[in-house]
Amino acid sequence: MENFTLNDGSKIPVIGFGTYHEQFGDNLLPIKTAIDCGYRFFDTASLYETEKYLGQAVKESGIPREEFIIETKLWTDEMDDAKAALERSLKRLQMDYVDLYLIHWPKATEEQEDWKEQDLKVWEQMEQLVREGKVRRLGLSNFLPHHLKNILDHASIKPVVDQLEIHPGYSQEAAVAFCKEHDVLPMAWSPLGRGRSKALAENEILQKLADKYGKSIPQINLRFLLQKGILPIPKASSKEHIEANLNVFDFSLTEDEIWILSCMPQTAGLGEHPDFDIPKKSTKKDV
Ligand SMILES: NC(=O)c1ccc[n+]([C@@H]2O[C@H](COP(=O)([O-])OP(=O)(O)OC[C@H]3O[C@@H](n4cnc5c(N)ncnc54)[C@H](OP(=O)(O)O)[C@@H]3O)[C@@H](O)[C@H]2O)c1
Repeated sequence: MENFTLNDGSKIPVIGFGTYHEQFGDNLLPIKTAIDCGYRFFDTASLYETEKYLGQAVKESGIPREEFIIETKLWTDEMDDAKAALERSLKRLQMDYVDLYLIHWPKATEEQEDWKEQDLKVWEQMEQLVREGKVRRLGLSNFLPHHLKNILDHASIKPVVDQLEIHPGYSQEAAVAFCKEHDVLPMAWSPLGRGRSKALAENEILQKLADKYGKSIPQINLRFLLQKGILPIPKASSKEHIEANLNVFDFSLTEDEIWILSCMPQTAGLGEHPDFDIPKKSTKKDV
């Protein structure tokens, strides 16, 4: 697979695999299938409760650990002690380091006033984890420009990625432009709009492009992100979907089509705004 180059010169596959948990299904088999299909970059989080399955799948694959890029995140209730949070994640992953460690959310509550100080405090702790060799590089998740600028203005170690909800119909142009301006790779969560929304699956603009290129709408969504220089991390359960999401390198959308998708009416945004819709611990299973 092709790579993106991060701002520290390291490489990362242009498509990753999401592991947001299956509430009623199998959490292990899709990850094992994804490894078999060639995915090497995996996204998880302490919140998802899938770290242990990812660790097991990597271990049982027999493929050397260093061939994988493993990304996890600390949740809002772990911001006081990044070292302890990472230790818990590493234990669940059965690993002694992670490749990417992210702050999952910039604020713990909508009302929190000292979020800037809190983000900087936890970032400093995370920088120390890099120095100790337990984390290779650092990143952010759900950081809009005003959150990201706070880190960029003070960090000793620069974030390499920022993970945001991005897909046609929710392309977050301002946040993506800010990331690019500061050489932080934008990464797309819910790049397919997640299964719970039919709005993308039934969108006429996307369907026309799918028909034109002989691809599915999810494949058009992924191609759109790649051509915009955004790294998608689709999640899928079936082998058919897992494979299809890698089969996006044999066609290109035109420049006009990219603009049309970038300017599509807002569609299928999940509505978890970083400042106003902060998931509560009690809704942990729904994030
Ligand atoms: N940082 C954050 O706050 C945050 C928030 C949400 C998610 N994430 C990360 O982003 C990852 C991806 O987002 P997501 O899981 O919300 O949703 P997603 O990847 O946008 O969509 C997953 C859904 O799309 C379906 N699908 C996948 N490939 C398909 C294909 N080729 N054709 C048709 N349907 C297909 C899947 O169905 P099947 O399962 O039936 O294959 C599943 O229902 C997560 O797993 C997680 O790692 C991060």
